[in-house]
Amino acid sequence: MSRTLFVTTALPYANGPIHIGHIMEYIQADIWVRFERMQGHHVHFIGADDAHGAPIMLKAEAEGITPQELVGRIAAGRPQYLRGFHLSFDHWYSTDSPENVALSQDVYWRLKDAGLIYAKPIEQFYDPVKRMFLADRYIKGECPNCHAKDQYADACEVCSIVNAPADLIRPYSSLTGAVPILRESDHFFFKLSDPRCVEFLREWIDAPGHLQTQVANKAREWLKSGGGIELGDWDISRDAPYFGIPIPDAPGKYFYVWLDAPLGYLAALQNYFTSGKARANGEACSYAEFITAPQTEQIHFIGKDIIYFHTLFWPAMLRFAGPPYKVPDHVYVHGFITVMGEKMSKSRGTGISPLRYLEIGMDPEWLRYYIAAKLNSNVEDLDFNPDDFTARVNSDLVGKYVNIASRAATFITRHFGGELRYGDAAKLAKEAAGTAFLVAESYESREFGKAMRDIMSVADRLNEEFDARKPWVLARDPAKLPELQDVCSRALHGFKLLTVLLAPVLPQLAARVAKELFGLDRPFNWADAETLPTNIRPYSHLMVRVDPKQVAALFEAAEEPDKLSSHSPISIDEFRKIDLRIARIVSAERIEGADKLLKLTLDLGGETRTVFAGIKSSYDPAALAGRLTVVVANLAPRKMKFGVSQGMVLAASGDGPGIYLLSPDSGAAPGMKVS
Ligand code: MSP
Ligand code: ZN
Repeated sequence: MSRTLFVTTALPYANGPIHIGHIMEYIQADIWVRFERMQGHHVHFIGADDAHGAPIMLKAEAEGITPQELVGRIAAGRPQYLRGFHLSFDHWYSTDSPENVALSQDVYWRLKDAGLIYAKPIEQFYDPVKRMFLADRYIKGECPNCHAKDQYADACEVCSIVNAPADLIRPYSSLTGAVPILRESDHFFFKLSDPRCVEFLREWIDAPGHLQTQVANKAREWLKSGGGIELGDWDISRDAPYFGIPIPDAPGKYFYVWLDAPLGYLAALQNYFTSGKARANGEACSYAEFITAPQTEQIHFIGKDIIYFHTLFWPAMLRFAGPPYKVPDHVYVHGFITVMGEKMSKSRGTGISPLRYLEIGMDPEWLRYYIAAKLNSNVEDLDFNPDDFTARVNSDLVGKYVNIASRAATFITRHFGGELRYGDAAKLAKEAAGTAFLVAESYESREFGKAMRDIMSVADRLNEEFDARKPWVLARDPAKLPELQDVCSRALHGFKLLTVLLAPVLPQLAARVAKELFGLDRPFNWADAETLPTNIRPYSHLMVRVDPKQVAALFEAAEEPDKLSSHSPISIDEFRKIDLRIARIVSAERIEGADKLLKLTLDLGGETRTVFAGIKSSYDPAALAGRLTVVVANLAPRKMKFGVSQGMVLAASGDGPGIYLLSPDSGAAPGMKVS
């Protein structure tokens, strides 16, 4: 029976470019979605930008533009990522939309009618200069435990203790430096602790299929904490100034961004219907009919950091708003992608920029394959390792999979005019059906790593079988030509089978194979796995190997080339955080395989550091040894392709090609502080 699937990925904040973590989530969802489409199911794959909240408001302000302008600019940058990685979203929208205003306010009224909203005054830090209430992340001060200065409340960087903002000694606003004052204001709360909510959530979490076991256990734990009934109520309001959706009966109050963000899934879906795109995608009904239809399955792909919102607030909101709102059918949670074992930092991203990946001509389907091969259905982190990436793609995709076609097709074209003929067609078709069934189960349950392993073991078998029958020997003996045709036909049938099975992961390559090699006028669907091709067209080259130079270039990327860096003013305090020191360059070396980098060994007055600097084009390493320069000494160490860089040397550059290292006046010595 054909299923109707409404599938979403988490809505990325609209204050920055899409990073490799987002891409990983989209690739996971996209593979699943493409598999379901190949099965003949109706899929509506929807994404959107999460546009609201204080960080976006403040970023826009710092750039001297409106928040709408900021999110508009970010939205304009999205398609290059989505197209670039062959992500097949049917629609992409924004939470800053009229649909979302209507939905958020509607849900609010309904929850209020259900007796689940109440107001209560709370005390909170307020910045008298900026005239706004401060979220905890904007308050700093001295740690009451270890007395480290300039610490955030949530976790002291020095002693790791978690403090309440009010416990910080001499707290200050990180926005203005002002001393915050405690101020009272009414906030609205969603009564998650209401027995009705607790009871509903318990059932929803336990119902099989909604959540992965690991996720359900976590959600159950949260429910239990405080004996169930004391589950914390949820503060859903923020005071002006805020970039968000106004609370209809409370002037000056806005919905907290996490209230309107998930409703953005529905807002985007609604816009997909009103824009006519749903109809074009075969959905004849209206949005209202679609969302209430019992057969519509609502499925959210999310990362492990936002489980709380998607397994407690979101289902409870929907359940108690009542029909036409419906609770999600599945929430599929994935772990995080790390790069060479390192977590991504919020401010610096990772060593991998998705745009840079595309710009240097790396094949997006390599990354799709690599991620697929490392994914399973659990909430496990996965690591991008450049050497592993290169080896895996080159050996599996090029060495095993593509290799089969390039070897067999030449014989078929040269000796048999492209015609395929099989000794035992029925048996081959049956085997293919068995393999396709097995792999389908893995895709369905998001065990992509298993699917890739099973596919590659078929590829191994095909290559072995091909080699064992020595077609290059058969080709020399006219009497053996029928056998040659059988050997090569079997290989090409196998190649077609593998292509169908890999199509969710390698959609562009599979479409080319369907058209160019097998002469199909449509992309493959799953049922194609079982049919034996009868002829082929001449083989043309399908996929190149990963060049380790490209991978090196990927990690040489200085920063995300998205033109988002702003010249927003910083406080003297922020500037003082940068520890600038005089350093002596002890030695400078070229690095094998690096086009731009030199490896510098620096003396910081007794301490030796290794720093990789992108100055190769302008400096002869020999001429650098012995000279003084300025280094940022407290940068977080950065793992690069060639080793760990423990700082950054300062250099000037303009529009031209030159790079000019800074030098201090004579008298400066290694280790001296620059301020
Ligand atoms: N705006 C919220 C989501 C609202 S959904 C109604 C948000 N945005 S986010 O940009 O911070 O994250 C978007 C998604 O990216 C989340 O699912 C998050 O888990 C995922 N990832 C962020 N970093 C990641 C990795 N390093 N690896 C994999 N996914 C990661 O949260
Ligand atoms: Zn401390």
